[in-house]
Amino acid sequence: MFQILVIDDERSMRDFLKILLTKEGHQVVTTANGEKGLEYLQDNRCDLVITDIRMPGMSGLELLEAVKEETPDLPVIMITAFASPNDAVQAMKYGAFDYISKPFNVDEIKSVIASAIKQSGGETSESTSDSFPGIIGQSREMVKIFDMIKRVAPTPANVLIYGESGTGKELVAQAIHRLSKVANNHFIPITCSAIPEELMESELFGHVKGSFTGAINDKLGLFEVANNGTAFLDEIGELSPIIQTKLLRVLQEREIKPVGGNIFQKINVRIIAATNRVLEDEISAGRFREDLFYRLAVVPIRVPPLRERKSDVPLLVQHFLEKYSNLLDKEVHEISSYAMQVLMNYDFPGNVRELENIIERGVALESSNIILPENLTLPGAKVAPPSGNVEDTGNGTLRAITSEEELYHLGLEKVLANMEKLFISHALDKTNHSKMRAADLLKISFRSFRYKVKKYDIQ
Ligand SMILES: Nc1ncnc2c1ncn2[C@@H]1O[C@H](COP(=O)(O)OP(=O)(O)OP(=O)(O)O)[C@@H](O)[C@H]1O
Ligand SMILES: [Mg+2]
Repeated sequence: MFQILVIDDERSMRDFLKILLTKEGHQVVTTANGEKGLEYLQDNRCDLVITDIRMPGMSGLELLEAVKEETPDLPVIMITAFASPNDAVQAMKYGAFDYISKPFNVDEIKSVIASAIKQSGGETSESTSDSFPGIIGQSREMVKIFDMIKRVAPTPANVLIYGESGTGKELVAQAIHRLSKVANNHFIPITCSAIPEELMESELFGHVKGSFTGAINDKLGLFEVANNGTAFLDEIGELSPIIQTKLLRVLQEREIKPVGGNIFQKINVRIIAATNRVLEDEISAGRFREDLFYRLAVVPIRVPPLRERKSDVPLLVQHFLEKYSNLLDKEVHEISSYAMQVLMNYDFPGNVRELENIIERGVALESSNIILPENLTLPGAKVAPPSGNVEDTGNGTLRAITSEEELYHLGLEKVLANMEKLFISHALDKTNHSKMRAADLLKISFRSFRYKVKKYDIQ
């Protein structure tokens, strides 16, 4: 999967290319002008740029020049409606990969794009999410993590993955295992906090029959099951002091002894641990063994919270829209630009997991095929309004706001309905929720007011 940026001031062209290229299996981001495109390129990884030449503001040629200055290897394909030999000469001189004139046929553009991608694929050394199925992200932070995964995976080094809850630590652990030399053996996740302390030792190292009440058979421990593979010790910060000591011994001696047994058995297990606690603090507080920490964190990987890599939000949203449209058998493939704005302004205390839940709920609730702000539930945050279509300027003026994009996406009726809804809520707020007075204020009949309140489900 390649990351393609399409820049064109004409919406139909952007949509056309997006559909065409998405069908070919690429990830496509579009912007309506060169300035926005350059901004996007600053923070994101991209394998190919396709840009119109004639655009208001920065022209395609100016964009090409800027791109070539920053990233000379990034292929740029130029499109223009006015096939002018002059433009073509200029474009090639500045280093465009190729030049296509509108109207072009689909096969032609497909073949030009395929060869550009081939060239770019052959030359890129930086990691993309391609080798990491299921991990979405093109931000600098994520590219760094992809690089780290690639470097550490083939080694036997223990890895400690840390970061807030919901940032994707388990996905990183799985990716390391998949790219490791033991990828064909087991990956055994062990959630340290989920196992009661008194059972932990037997879960990890097994027990022999009769070693304690209830031990009616010999039992294999998870370490033995993971032998020659990877053990993923999740929430390692929750491990009790006694088990910490036993685990340290396993890491040092590379052998285990089942509860009640007296024979040590050699094991060869790659350990990946994860925690959302700050282990250094746990160490200072005397709750975590420092020597164990150093054994586990031979290679530490920090997964940053989503708010530190907001540029991944649009890609993640697209990914989850597809996922939940499929799962819930719906066709919600888009999100309104206001709804996206709301998300971009949100902090995501629950990180990617929270974003995933928000989109899942949004898809479930949505009756059209585009997610609207009112179907986003962001606990404790400034939710949708004023991202509806009315802004209260606070000095007695209400201003209708809508972007061109929103208007043509939703259509006039939906935009007007949104406004009506917001004006009605505003009037209700002003009158302390007296329907009678609110109807008066709006100069409509009480009956029609009541009808609208019901229709829009206004509380
Ligand atoms: N980069 C990503 N791309 C796609 N999905 C992601 C990404 N990061 C996280 N997710 C999804 O978010 C959810 C949480 O991810 P994961 O379980 O790996 O987080 P975690 O860091 O282990 O969280 P916790 O500390 O709560 O265990 C999962 O459903 C996962 O698939
Ligand atoms: Mg986890």
